[in-house]
Amino acid sequence: GSGEQTFLFEQNPTRVANSERDALLANPGFGRVFTDHMATIRYSEGRGWHDAKIGPRKAFDLDPSTLVLHYAQEIFEGMKAYRLPDGGATLFRPDANARRFRNSALRLAMAPLPEELFVQSVRELVRIDRDWIPAGEGAALYLRPFMIATEVLLGVKPSAEYLYCVIASSVGSYFKGGAPAITIWVSENYTRAAPGGTGEAKCGGNYAASLAAQAEAMQEGCEQVVFLDAVERRFVEELGGMNVFFGFRDGSLQTPPLTGTILPGITRDSLITLARDMGLTVREEPYAIDQWQADAESGRLTEAFACGTAAVVTPIGKVKGREHSFTIGDGGAGPVASRLKSALLDIQNGRAPDPHGWLDRL
Ligand code: COI
Repeated sequence: GSGEQTFLFEQNPTRVANSERDALLANPGFGRVFTDHMATIRYSEGRGWHDAKIGPRKAFDLDPSTLVLHYAQEIFEGMKAYRLPDGGATLFRPDANARRFRNSALRLAMAPLPEELFVQSVRELVRIDRDWIPAGEGAALYLRPFMIATEVLLGVKPSAEYLYCVIASSVGSYFKGGAPAITIWVSENYTRAAPGGTGEAKCGGNYAASLAAQAEAMQEGCEQVVFLDAVERRFVEELGGMNVFFGFRDGSLQTPPLTGTILPGITRDSLITLARDMGLTVREEPYAIDQWQADAESGRLTEAFACGTAAVVTPIGKVKGREHSFTIGDGGAGPVASRLKSALLDIQNGRAPDPHGWLDRL
């Protein structure tokens, strides 16, 4: 069996009480508050996808030789469910996450999950745990679909078995509140992805590879690391876990092109569309770190921001590194970032028309 699956439903008998849940939702932070259920589907070579289930969220029982624990054959997605003014709920472009998940699976030599099954699993989980969608600006239910290699073996080869799972987490903003803009650290010794590598796949390994650089960034008092291209160490690629945009005095925007080493962000893609809807020029072209500094200093560049499902739109105020140190604009939130963030959140929260058909109401 593959495409069409019937989910087995098993309610969690020990659900979190309503009053306790409401207390958790008042100030969820990021990635610490989890819902009552999870979706799982298994894959076995020869048999295909089977045992689709929505059941209580619980620990996995894994043999210590399970392939994922050794060779990191793992991929994941990040997406959100939003509350609507009429009390309903919606997903945002789940088809785009399903397509990217499939592409990631192929790059990691994993079984590609049928895209309809991906969307169905997320919809069913949000439906059963919809009371966990927090209210409030910027709050949402973060969905984390992921897939691991579950064959028990120490040979280095693609697994013959996989476990696909979706968990959900009530979230507020990714960065701890307060500062209007983040400071980022230019990594001069580490790179994130090389041509031919896994840079455009959403695999755990990319994030593992970013952690030493991210730790260095935090030691330097920065919130995020920014990586340069692995070939020339010259062009800005992306941050540890989000894409980057540059805003210019002439009103135009620029973002690094998707040449294979950059994560093809769905927020990135949505912002390009929204900016063009607003009549702004958006270039997908390489931008050198030295040019970034020169443009910030001359005033040609007036703002920069990070974007992602978790980060939404987060202004970048300062850039630091061993060979770089500069402030962008007045170091705070720029007007284009603010406009784009509002436009995106207004669509996601059902307060504005959805001209591109991005919402998938439950
Ligand atoms: C997301 O934005 O969903 C990500 O996967 C990035 C991670 C930093 C949470």
